[in-house]
Amino acid sequence: MNNLSEKRKFIIDTDTASDDAAAIMLAALSDNIELLGVTAVSGNVDVEQAGLNALQTLEVCGRGDVPVYLGAKRPLFHERKATISVHGKDGMGDKGIIHPSGKFQDMRAVDFILDTVKKYPGEVEIAVLGPATNIALAVLIDRDAMKKVKRIWSMGTPGFGPGNATPVSEFNVFIDAEAYALMLDSGSPITIAGFDLCMGNIGLDRYELSYLESGSPVAKFLTQATSVILQFNIDTRGVHMVDLPDAVAMAAALWPDFVKQSVRCHCHCCTENSEVYGQVIFFQEGKTYESMPDAKDVNADVITMVDNDLFTERFMDLIR
Ligand code: RIB
Ligand code: CA
Repeated sequence: MNNLSEKRKFIIDTDTASDDAAAIMLAALSDNIELLGVTAVSGNVDVEQAGLNALQTLEVCGRGDVPVYLGAKRPLFHERKATISVHGKDGMGDKGIIHPSGKFQDMRAVDFILDTVKKYPGEVEIAVLGPATNIALAVLIDRDAMKKVKRIWSMGTPGFGPGNATPVSEFNVFIDAEAYALMLDSGSPITIAGFDLCMGNIGLDRYELSYLESGSPVAKFLTQATSVILQFNIDTRGVHMVDLPDAVAMAAALWPDFVKQSVRCHCHCCTENSEVYGQVIFFQEGKTYESMPDAKDVNADVITMVDNDLFTERFMDLIR
């Protein structure tokens, strides 16, 4: 077992629904991670529900010791956009499995984030698994402090594939594109795991789901939490699988050998109120664009290839 000083320090910022829960499990059950806290944000569900889902997920993992903080109730500049509840009304399969005994911390999420990155300059990694509203607020309040973040691991953007919220934008960015733009401009090192990495055989197929259903309490909890997204995928995507985008992003953070290829980019997030709201345009380092004689500064590494088999092997090993 690693001693505390050797462990990587993480904050998870999350709009906790089923795939966020899978990501929280990976971190909570990894012995080389010091999970300093979980901060909730409005996104898949309202911020209170996201907090309850996080508390419950941590308790199921035996990690009721990890503090949970409530953050932004809505995006920075507009009311939360109407979207389909692909994870269920409670974000966790609507199976009545969310009844945590733990309570939220009194401190606001943004204050916890800033206090923590100032307490551990250069050491704290933040997994941003929902809309970036809490991160943007932290940047607006104290950008110099946020520059002390070791790395932000973002599940966000379609990557180099189609969007899921609109044809060009991914849900986390679509809910608060202005916040995502502020995060991109934060000066913190950022790695982006896009939605393009998350479909296909990296998801849980019927056999893996069936195996988990008869597995540990953690595994059973996850299969219940993902029951609505499973039906959504069957009904709308014609596939019997559960995609876990946030767990893919967390795996990229936890397991360096999982990431096979990435490109350094200047990422521009479109915030104009139009059909392209929430689109993130990737200007790749080293490429010459005919309308752009001068390269733009790189602000993120965008993952382009991961090891699906390694994910399945390690994920199942940790969760079952
Ligand atoms: O587009 C997928 C992302 O949006 C995931 O983080 C999911 O939990 C939702 O927040
Ligand atoms: Ca999420």
